[in-house]
Amino acid sequence: LYAFSVHNFSVGVLGGSGYAGRELCALIERHPALSLSFATAQSQRGESIRVGGRSVTFVAPGDADLASASLVFSALPHGHSLPWVERARSAGAKVVDLSSDLRPGRGPLAGTAAGDVPYGLPEFHRDAIAGASVVANPGCYATAVLLALVPLASRGLIAPGATVSVSAASGVTGAGHTPRPDLLFAEVESDFRAYAVGNCHRHLPEMRATLAFAGADCDLLFTPHLLPVARGILATITVPLTAPLADPVALFADAYAGEPFVEVADTPPSLREVTRRNVARLFATAVEGMRQPTLLVQAAIDNLVKGAAGQAVQNANLMLGLDEAMGLPT
Ligand SMILES: NC(=O)c1ccc[n+]([C@@H]2O[C@H](COP(=O)([O-])OP(=O)(O)OC[C@H]3O[C@@H](n4cnc5c(N)ncnc54)[C@H](OP(=O)(O)O)[C@@H]3O)[C@@H](O)[C@H]2O)c1
Repeated sequence: LYAFSVHNFSVGVLGGSGYAGRELCALIERHPALSLSFATAQSQRGESIRVGGRSVTFVAPGDADLASASLVFSALPHGHSLPWVERARSAGAKVVDLSSDLRPGRGPLAGTAAGDVPYGLPEFHRDAIAGASVVANPGCYATAVLLALVPLASRGLIAPGATVSVSAASGVTGAGHTPRPDLLFAEVESDFRAYAVGNCHRHLPEMRATLAFAGADCDLLFTPHLLPVARGILATITVPLTAPLADPVALFADAYAGEPFVEVADTPPSLREVTRRNVARLFATAVEGMRQPTLLVQAAIDNLVKGAAGQAVQNANLMLGLDEAMGLPT
């Protein structure tokens, strides 16, 4: 008779009724070593949803038994998350914070990419995350952009003083589930538009800080767009280089060799290739007809999985001493 057991950790989700929170509840439900001890909601407290085969009833944050959880995911809106991170820590739980409250480039951690609270990009900060009690899960756009740019920055390949231009589009779940007239189906369907133009997006500080930490001295020009699909991000990035690159795909394949959640493709990625998977799919090619050697890099992710809940579970696995890939869809 063979028997084996996987240590089971109770985890809680603050903001479990939101888009990122529901994705977390679903991932936890099918994770072999995690079990959901509570999920909170604000306006939807008392309501129930089906997750996997069971019913989950949302409790108010104040009624959540924080001490029952080994680890708490906070999927609360930015600005509301930090006090709950502190409460969960006081109750003895580790925390993965999906909001921007603790990410680098802001507040006391400005200018660092992995200060006291590691920035939860496991591909770059794996050891710090494994030893941390709080991790700042990256923004969805930032995940796509940084997985595309950090290998170039850390190899000194981005031309000093250059402008790296990012044109990115996200599905509408990126905006959260609070109703907004400009996100109604009739407003977004068959349309395509930019927002937060002129470098006004909230993810710029963490992107700038992480790139500077990796050694880049460049400007970022970041233009996000709203894509009329439910989920997915595609970022198209142009990078002025210090010197031409003979084989850009090989460079990325080498940088991410052995990484379970980064795919390097030799054709431009599409959203269909990444949705509902905890992967970033990257592609790179030299750009013809430019005075300066220029690289085009594309990154595709599911904003709710590798861009939010999946990456949060990847971080939680590391923090709990579990296999990093456990329970994650590839
Ligand atoms: N959506 C994405 O693609 C994505 C990606 C990466 C990171 N994130 C981050 O993850 C967090 C959640 O994003 P989301 O898109 O899932 O947002 P969302 O759909 O608007 O969900 C927000 C959640 O927080 C609850 N909530 C709202 N205000 C609250 C308050 N004052 N106190 C306590 N709970 C409150 C909501 O409950 P009720 O609905 O019941 O009011 C809901 O459960 C944000 O910080 C966001 O920046 C999101």
